[in-house]
Amino acid sequence: MTILVTGAAGFIGSNFVLDWCDQLTEDLVSFDLLTYAGNLENLSTLDGNPRHHFIRGNIGDRALISELLKKYQVRAVVNFAAESHVDRSIHGPADFIETNIVGTYNLLESVRSYWNDLDEATKKVFRFLHVSTDEVYGSLDDKAPAFTENYPYEPNSPYSATKAASDHLVRAWFHTYGLPVLTTNCSNNYGPYHFPEKLIPLCILNALNGKPLPIYGDGQQIRDWLYVKDHCSAIREVLKQGKIGDTYNVGGWNERTNLEVVKALCAILDELRPKADGSKYESQITYVKDRPGHDRRYAIDASKLERELGWRPQETFETGLRKTVLWYLENETWVNHVVSGEYQHWVQKQYS
Ligand code: NAD
Ligand code: DAU
Repeated sequence: MTILVTGAAGFIGSNFVLDWCDQLTEDLVSFDLLTYAGNLENLSTLDGNPRHHFIRGNIGDRALISELLKKYQVRAVVNFAAESHVDRSIHGPADFIETNIVGTYNLLESVRSYWNDLDEATKKVFRFLHVSTDEVYGSLDDKAPAFTENYPYEPNSPYSATKAASDHLVRAWFHTYGLPVLTTNCSNNYGPYHFPEKLIPLCILNALNGKPLPIYGDGQQIRDWLYVKDHCSAIREVLKQGKIGDTYNVGGWNERTNLEVVKALCAILDELRPKADGSKYESQITYVKDRPGHDRRYAIDASKLERELGWRPQETFETGLRKTVLWYLENETWVNHVVSGEYQHWVQKQYS
């Protein structure tokens, strides 16, 4: 049997697929539409691996998904496929509604129909794991306790509203149809293969290219940061031992202001790639117009995952960030391919 991973050529999906193929012997089907965010180069080290299969397609394509589920005798689906960037959702929410809501609905329906036809033993072990975000919980005051799994949904951006909607669909397919689902709500990831529209990779590349490091508003917004490989290990654990119908918060216990994050990566660059003129990368920090509806603080209480499934992150923010900066310094070819083409249009639209 096989697992099907959607959104497999994106940032977290590709890290998950690479780790899975490295550590386990089960076959894996990578499924991805290859939007601007999907990059087959992320999976290129798997070329020629007979246990890995890549299929290009849309999670909303019921006929294709149904065919693949049967053909590969899929025993679990891990759904990473989504439009994922908040700023893009502000410029144009339509794709977010189409993929995150309608796409998830169609995927759930294809999976439900397949699952209904399985024999009882296979039905019992089947899982649908939906990867979601802490942004569905909305924004916290500085002193408020971190989000637990019982925190009410209060999404504030078109992106988080569509993710919240998809989480509700997943929940409903469990309660109404008995589909064996699991949901994970994770904080901000960072690490290899991160598309440079997001804060950390954007600032690493802008720093190296002598460009401004754009800080929205006052830079005092707080996020919890998790190294992507830790997110992948949490998902493997939830898939293996999670209680059907439950949701699990995943986080790094690393709350930082955006300004602290950017200053920390500048300090690592000062050490690893000092500037020729002796100036500090921090001097490139530039305050720009704030993101509309910008959530002030996210904080994840991941203690349920530790208590029930024994998972804790391995990396601290300091070790994870250093690995990340090093990865970008060592993977110039990947960077050069990614920043050509569509990416230039986005940077122009968002920052000019
Ligand atoms: P990403 O944008 O890097 O990757 C998304 C992938 O989905 C891309 O490869 C894209 O081609 C693919 N895709 C988009 N629409 C599709 C469709 N209709 N059918 C098939 N494939 C499609 O995103 P990411 O950062 O890797 O996030 C993956 C998932 O994790 C998302 O669901 C996101 O909401 C969630 N998440 C992300 C973070 C984070 O910090 N990046 C944190 C928590 C949760
Ligand atoms: O919290 C989990 C979420 O983290 C995921 O669900 C999303 O898919 C993922 O994109 C991420 O969302 P954020 O909006 O938090 O990530 P981003 O990297 O875009 O921004 C991080 C913070 O940095 C946020 O407060 C906005 C700020 N920022 C971002 C950019 C791109 C800046 O100050 N300047 C920038 O240029």
